[in-house]
Amino acid sequence: TGSDGGATGNGTGSGGDGSSLPDKVVIGSDIPYRPFEYETAAGELKGFDVEIARAVFDEQLGVTSEFKKTSFDTIIASLNQGNFRVIMSAMTINDERAQQVDFSEPYFTAYQTIVVRQDSDIDSKEALKGTTVGVQKGTTGLDAAQGLQEEFGGDLELKEYDQITGAFDALSNGQVQAVINDNTVNAEFVNNQDGFRFVEGEGAAAEEGENAPPYLTLTVENYGIAFRQDDDEFREQVNEALAAVRESGTYDDIYSNYFSG
Ligand code: ARG
Repeated sequence: TGSDGGATGNGTGSGGDGSSLPDKVVIGSDIPYRPFEYETAAGELKGFDVEIARAVFDEQLGVTSEFKKTSFDTIIASLNQGNFRVIMSAMTINDERAQQVDFSEPYFTAYQTIVVRQDSDIDSKEALKGTTVGVQKGTTGLDAAQGLQEEFGGDLELKEYDQITGAFDALSNGQVQAVINDNTVNAEFVNNQDGFRFVEGEGAAAEEGENAPPYLTLTVENYGIAFRQDDDEFREQVNEALAAVRESGTYDDIYSNYFSG
């Protein structure tokens, strides 16, 4: 008991409507996944998720938030084992996961995208046929890559890395020809290192009428905060807090800090 970061505490009785909140919430997350969760050289934890967590938990609910590093591939199992109270890890809401966890309302939209080396001749999805693609284990990037593998009749090799940085390293040193991963994380990589670019084209985002980014999108996905399936009251409190953070303009402030053009 007591390993879940305060599932039982009813703390200070804030609210007065009979609802109870923990004093503290431990958040499982795979770090680094810049710009959502990463450590600065000085060891400070930063990122979009970290700031949304502060706004929702600390400021809105009065619950002290604390991030705990965990591998992405085992993050749902770890939540359900009680190692932390929620997951905030740029996690895409999907049906497979929704059988094991409950999600908050969506808080961010993302797209699977393809990054290659600048000097690559890969200029379309189809041109990936016969190449080797790097992905992070357990992610929707892997799902998208497996979809392409099927489309190509198996003619696509996949290499899975524990963290996205491993996939980016493999792209740099030529072990893979492309990385499939969430657009804003790929953009952070492309913008901060020389020698890499997106594969361009239209795709899923444009088809679904989304405000499409200027490169090929394989999927449209929404991020959610994940909860254990017996945590309905807390999930509803967090949903209300998230709505308040959107209404107050705090969400937009945080958003434009990280994603201003
Ligand atoms: N959005 C993708 C997914 O849910 C990738 C998330 C990876 N997150 C992380 N912190 N490493 O599968």
